[in-house]
Amino acid sequence: MSRISRRELLAGGAGMLATFSAGGLVAHQAHAASHTLMMSRIDHGILPGTITKDMMSFSPDGPPPVLRFKQGEVATISVTNTLDEASVVHWHGFRIANAMDGVPYLTQYPIEPGQTFRYEFAPPDAGTFWYHPHCNTLEQMARGMTGVMVVEEPEDPGFDRDLPLNIRDFRLGGDGQFISLFKARSAARGGTLGTVSTVNWQVDPVYELKAGSLVRLRLAVTDVTRVGKYEIEGAAAEVIAIDSNPLPSPLPARDIELSPGQRADIALKVPDEEGTAVKLVLKKKFDQKILARFVAKGTSSKRDLRELKPLPPNPVPQPDLNNAEVIEFVFGWSPEGDAPQASICGTLGYTFWSINRTAWPGDVPGPLDPLATLKLGKSYVLRLRNETPNAHPIHLHGVSFVLLRSNKRKLAPLVTDTALLLSQETMDVALVADNPGDWAFHCHVIEHQKTGLAGFLRIED
Ligand code: C2O
Ligand code: CU
Ligand code: CU
Repeated sequence: MSRISRRELLAGGAGMLATFSAGGLVAHQAHAASHTLMMSRIDHGILPGTITKDMMSFSPDGPPPVLRFKQGEVATISVTNTLDEASVVHWHGFRIANAMDGVPYLTQYPIEPGQTFRYEFAPPDAGTFWYHPHCNTLEQMARGMTGVMVVEEPEDPGFDRDLPLNIRDFRLGGDGQFISLFKARSAARGGTLGTVSTVNWQVDPVYELKAGSLVRLRLAVTDVTRVGKYEIEGAAAEVIAIDSNPLPSPLPARDIELSPGQRADIALKVPDEEGTAVKLVLKKKFDQKILARFVAKGTSSKRDLRELKPLPPNPVPQPDLNNAEVIEFVFGWSPEGDAPQASICGTLGYTFWSINRTAWPGDVPGPLDPLATLKLGKSYVLRLRNETPNAHPIHLHGVSFVLLRSNKRKLAPLVTDTALLLSQETMDVALVADNPGDWAFHCHVIEHQKTGLAGFLRIED
């Protein structure tokens, strides 16, 4: 039995797993990263005293589950579509094989109602990630299909508890029912904001945490639109990673700017005194909103933030800046004409935005032309130029990049997959084109993505 690798075992599917666990491989099964998702339409309570109808989730029983993986270990995810429309799942931030990336027609056919698609990959990086559909994306995400993924480091840094926080809004009326998921005039500007802020699908949830313990808060902003500043109030707390990549040194958990798709890992020292409350707040122009509370429980375990081991950096290759070719991308208003083409993945019916003067035609079978073709293994500087009056969180699939410089502000050299490009900003980012395939490249304000601000980069040998 030892001749069968863990990979083969997992590739064998559930039946084989059962056979072998009966034969004594129970330990493997205990943390075998084999997940099942059921894309489902559900009714669920979000606003107290109401039941929201026609939500969408990755589970028939409630919010999308948190998926846990181990860095470098093969995992399988079987996705069954029980919706009455097509879908597909994308694993945001995972640098995995193109065929597993979950983009309709670019990497796979949409998963039709009643079908199951099996994803398999070994996440190369540790950290906080998230997953969401890439088909009828605005509607499916707006109705609830955004979930958090955790990839654990091989060695635990020393936390007492790990708490993923799925931060997002819903557009609900006072009766708890969905109102129009977007407004065209907002889609042509900053995007349509939600009306109800939630964490893990709850309004202002309260988490009881052991007094004096160390907790890893995993903030994932899975909202379709909101760019915001977040802060931990009432405790010692430090940001240790942004977008799954450890910071060279921790920063205070204040004014953490996150746009749709971005994540922040925060090390929280729960106060020593029982009953003390800590708040996660969203800072607004003139006030702030409490998103979640953490209350100290029991006698203090007297831990200290300095007891944590630093997170090891992820194995993202360093670009060779001396030999990097510069490729320019202009994010702009849409040139005249062309409403998006009809697609089984839906359209919003408008085209407002473009990349390099070309609006994404819609999620259609193609073939479509890439915005640029990159040579496998070479280093590139992407010069991102925003000539619009709105900010755009620019996201690239399959490859992480490092922030180099901006004409508007000083940038820390963060490694990321999503960078907020300010209005009229030009930002240089660099990467090694080390992952072959066609990689979606788009704004993560989903209304912008779905009204033209999307395209893809091709990496080939
Ligand atoms: Cu998180 Cu193409 O998306
Ligand atoms: Cu992505
Ligand atoms: Cu945008």
